[in-house]
Order: sequence, then C-alpha cells, then structure tokens
Amino acid sequence: MGPILLAFALAVLAWMLVVGDLVRRYRPLWHWYLIGYPLTACRVVSTWRKVAVLNDLAVSRRPSRGLLGDLVVKGDPLRPVAPRFSFPRAVRSGLTVTVRLHAGQTPATYMKAADAFAHAWRVHAVRVTSPERGLVLLTAMATDPLARPGLATAPTELLSALIGALESGGAWVMNLRLVPHWLITGATRSGKSTLLARLITQLASQPVALVGIDCKGGMELGLFAGRLSALATCRREAVTVLSALVVDMQDRMQTCRTVGVRSVWELPDKLRPIPVVVIVDEIAELYLSDGTRESRAEAEQCSTLLLRLAQLGAALGLHLVVSGQRVGSDLGPGVTALRAQLGGRICHRVNDPGTAEMTLGDLNKDAVAVAQSITAEERGVAVCTSPDGGWSRARSHLTPTGEAVAITKKYAAVTPVLPALHGACVVVEGESKWSTKERHSRSR
Ligand SMILES: Nc1ncnc2c1ncn2[C@@H]1O[C@H](COP(=O)(O)OP(=O)(O)OP(=O)(O)O)[C@@H](O)[C@H]1O
Ligand SMILES: [Mg+2]
Repeated sequence: MGPILLAFALAVLAWMLVVGDLVRRYRPLWHWYLIGYPLTACRVVSTWRKVAVLNDLAVSRRPSRGLLGDLVVKGDPLRPVAPRFSFPRAVRSGLTVTVRLHAGQTPATYMKAADAFAHAWRVHAVRVTSPERGLVLLTAMATDPLARPGLATAPTELLSALIGALESGGAWVMNLRLVPHWLITGATRSGKSTLLARLITQLASQPVALVGIDCKGGMELGLFAGRLSALATCRREAVTVLSALVVDMQDRMQTCRTVGVRSVWELPDKLRPIPVVVIVDEIAELYLSDGTRESRAEAEQCSTLLLRLAQLGAALGLHLVVSGQRVGSDLGPGVTALRAQLGGRICHRVNDPGTAEMTLGDLNKDAVAVAQSITAEERGVAVCTSPDGGWSRARSHLTPTGEAVAITKKYAAVTPVLPALHGACVVVEGESKWSTKERHSRSR
C-alpha cells in the first residue's frame, strides 16, 4: 500500500508541476493570482521585520540606557520596531504594500532599500512612491512589465504622441504642449532613432510641421523626408534651417505682441502659426569641430541658434526634440545651457554613468540608478520624466521601418509648407533635393 501511495503522490506532484509551468507560460496572470501572489505575500510578511532592521527602517522607541541621578543605567537592548504595514494587496502581476512612516523618516530611506525588498521578496523590482504625507506605497512587480508591453489607444490631443508603455501599465505619452522640449540620450543601438521614428509617425497625421536635422547624412530621418517640411543632412544645412526658424520665431513674437497675447496658443485660429517640431538625431554632430576656425564658428552658430529656439520657442509653438549619445560639456560650452532648457528627459541604456547623471541627475537622482541598470538586451527601454516631475521606466513601441515610412508617405500630402524655410534644403523621397519653395510650387 505504502509504495503505491508514494507513487501516486509523486505522480500528482509531477502533474501539478507540469500544469503549473504551462499556466505560468501561457496564462501568466492566472499564475500570478493563484501561485505567485500568495507565495510573495507570505515572503513580504515573513521577511518584513528583518529587511526593515537591516536597512535602518526600524527604530527603537526608547534608548537602551538612561540616567538614574548621576548613574548611567544600561537596560536590555530594546527590540527595534519595524514600521507598520498593510497586508500586501494583489494587483495585476504585482502587489502593493502601504507603509506608515515612523516620525522622522522620509520616503528616501525606503527608496534606498528598494533593491533589498526586491531580493527578499524575489520580485523583478520594487518602486517606492508617497501617495500622502506619512505614507509610502511599495509596488512590487513580479516580472518586468516592459518585456511584452501592450499598447494603449493613441491620444487625440494636438502635439501628443503615444510612444509606448510605462512600467505601471499606463500609456507613455509625449505631450509637447505640456513639456515643449525633450532630450533623448542613450548608447549606440539603445533605441533613440526608433523612438524618433515613433514620434514622427504619431505626429504625421497632425497639423504640425516636422523639421529634421540628421547630420549622419540623413540616414535615419531621410526615410521620413516625405512628411518633413525641411531636412538638414549636414551642419551647414542645419545652420540654414535653424537660422530660418529663428527668423520665423521673431515673426511669431511680433504677431503675439501686435495682438497682445503671451503665446501663440492664445492667438485667434486664423492668426495662429502652425506648430513646428524640430527633431535632431545625434546632437554631437552639430557641436563637433575639426579644429578649423570655420568649423568652430559653425558649431558655435548652431549652438546659439538651438539655444535661442529652446529659450524662446515654447510659447511660440516651436519645439525641440534632441537625441544624442552624450550631452556633456565636453561637446561645447552651449550644450549644458541647452540641456537645461530641455525639460523632458528620456534616458535609454548608457555606457557611462555620466550620461545617465547628465540626463536625469539634475531632475531626479533616483531615476539615475534605474537608468544605469538598463541592460543591452532591453532595447527601447528607457527612463522618462513625466510632466508632474516624476519619472518612470518605459519602453517605446517598435514601429518597423517599413510601417513608419508608409505612414509618413501616406501623410506626405498634408506636409505644411513653412514660408520661413524658403531656400532650406529638403530631401524628397530620399533622392532629389528640393527647396521648400520648389515643393510649394509643385504642390500647387
Ligand atoms: N522599443 C523597442 N523594442 C524593441 N526593439 C527595439 C526598440 N527600440 C529599438 N529596438 C531595436 O534596437 C535597434 C537599435 O535601435 P536604434 O537604431 O533606434 O538605436 P540608436 O540608439 O538610434 O542607435 P545609434 O546611436 O547607433 O543611432 C533597432 O534596430 C531595433 O531593432
Ligand atoms: Mg540612431
């Protein structure tokens, strides 16, 4: 009887393991609610005190020594008290724990301990937020939600683009009305150009002029030339295009002053100029100089023009989206000033800690460590800032090149003509060069 029972128990166990594995693979959500969550919740409860003590989150209520007259009296060391926490609540492929802070504690202590929680609870990551004073919310993610991100419906607002998915499961939206200028950094092959392509395809259908500056000979942005109102493929062309945009900016200022408003968005519809989004792929190409006087002067000119657009363009419907592998002061004196104007930040995988620090450090210290932990396999994963001053890990949606080109071709006919860019170089269909003036006369 004994061996039969044992064999039966082993068979049941093997069957449960196989079924468990199948459920985990094909129904990860069921697996989480049925097996993952109860196990992780037990780990949270059983390890809570130990993790709190080891990470200085627990406090002793009374000192272990006191004074009796002139005598120092030592008592038994008091057991530190761990902060009070709510029972873990299951959420989609993760759980949340609300913690009441001890007096004198700040969420920063918990942010430092986030990795320790993730290891103790054996989850992908733990994020720390503070929904109200005195409370922190620990959100544990069982698996990386960005491994297979879903895609929400695109926003309909002008100058808004659905870029991808946030780690929280929400939509990653880039809204240029809320944050007018953006800086995108990342090592080579980390996903910068893919993100720019996504942005262009999202803005293509909107009444927005797109201007490309791609000094890698137009290899990346040249693909979308049909929907670009101007494309500069070398620094000389960039100077021409940027100078024209600065002149256009001054015209816009004049219009606003005449009407008596403070931004183009307050102008009546018929007077409002079309918004322009200037997309720069690889900023370093604009700043590098080969040492000759001419090249240095050109780089300085580019730097000044970009800075002027960034400083004054936001209220005038001129937006900058700048990408680059590095944005350090080693590129030139103007680059730090430009960076300060680019309020939106996106940092992909970086090769050196300096780049993550340069992109996110001045806004959010905690985000820097998360950006540094992005691996080479996680292409398109980035840390992005949000308009409310927070940040999130996110992944851009991979738009295949063919699809992106097809979308820009579809909307090529609605490409706005920017009168200010008469004479600036554009590449149409990647082949012939036309000025916007010629293109204008062609479209008529
Ligand atoms: N969101 C994403 N999801 C999946 N794969 C991606 C994503 N973004 C980029 N990739 C992959 O990474 C590769 C490199 O991306 P991309 O060319 O955008 O990098 P880059 O940062 O512009 O590099 P470089 O600095 O060399 O121009 C792409 O060919 C694509 O296959
Ligand atoms: Mg690129």
